[in-house]
Amino acid sequence: MTVTTMTETWIDVCRVEDLEPDAGICALVEGHQVAIFYLPKLEEVFAIGNYDPFSHANVLSRGLTGDIGGEPVVASPVYKQHFNLRTGRCLEDKSISVPCYPARITKGRVQIQLSAQGDPV
Ligand code: FES
Repeated sequence: MTVTTMTETWIDVCRVEDLEPDAGICALVEGHQVAIFYLPKLEEVFAIGNYDPFSHANVLSRGLTGDIGGEPVVASPVYKQHFNLRTGRCLEDKSISVPCYPARITKGRVQIQLSAQGDPV
């Protein structure tokens, strides 16, 4: 993982209260549809691309969150493939991944970076 502290730009997206605990919302961030998930148990937010490469629809924010092998995942609401929320990697097909954006909570605000690991859709 690359850590650049000088050049990173955090984009303010919304308040933590705007998020659904253990679920996702979709945000349009500088033209990118981003699915943002809030997992209170981990006290963490995760941001991945909203586009589901299997169903070709912007639906991942509506997927069910869960935990597989200790990793937070979301299941596509269409064909149920699971995506690792930390990496964007599909669990059923390792050759497929969705963009995964750094995300954080700062002073009650949710912020992400658009420098995705993986290809932005
Ligand atoms: S930005 Fe979420 S559906 Fe269009």
